[in-house]
Amino acid sequence: MGGNRTGVQTAPEMAEELIAGAAAAGPSMDGGPEMADAERAEYISKGFPVGSLPGLAFAEEAKADDETIGMAVFLDKLSERLAFERMGTRLYDAFLVKCETLGEEGVGPTLAEVEEIRDEEHRHFLLLNEAVTELGGDPTVKSPCADVAAVASLGIMQVLTDPRTTVTQCLQALLTAELTDNAGWEMLIDVAEELGHSDLSERFTDALTNEQNHLLNVQTWLSDRVSAKL
Ligand SMILES: [Fe+2]
Ligand SMILES: [Fe+2]
Repeated sequence: MGGNRTGVQTAPEMAEELIAGAAAAGPSMDGGPEMADAERAEYISKGFPVGSLPGLAFAEEAKADDETIGMAVFLDKLSERLAFERMGTRLYDAFLVKCETLGEEGVGPTLAEVEEIRDEEHRHFLLLNEAVTELGGDPTVKSPCADVAAVASLGIMQVLTDPRTTVTQCLQALLTAELTDNAGWEMLIDVAEELGHSDLSERFTDALTNEQNHLLNVQTWLSDRVSAKL
């Protein structure tokens, strides 16, 4: 594999040639990014949704009351969290392969610690399955928010499954996941309280406690490894 050739300032004498080359190539059509913006704006104004939630579609059609719509929104967010926790389990599965292959280096997590977080993410996924079922929803539905969350987190999974990435780089990506995890559970607890599901909010608070530990651990392992120049 060759060295990194990016960074124009490493070879300033070639910069002029590069700029001339780019200018000579020119765009294949008139107009610039504003044309793409206008095109996108047209699609936005048509108002196509990412997807629909069975309950929410029904609620809108029937001009349902606030409570029904509130429940549909809650199910949408539960489905989002469920999708994220399922992905979280897979993230730590991938991280485990990385750590097992590279071997424990003394700085960062032990294999047992990674396994423990993986198992907790899986338990959170099962908890959400239960919660959705108890509320009369279908946990196998991929709601619009679940779809968006899956797209938003694609990059994290790519970092974890890239054979070239280091444990430190994976921890940096996991930090993004854990920050989202924490904020996600905090919001679900608030919504559960607002809708009067104090039983659920209690179980979600247990999950949040786990997530706070995940975040703290990932932050500590990451900063220890950066300090150790790993
Ligand atoms: Fe999680
Ligand atoms: Fe987590």
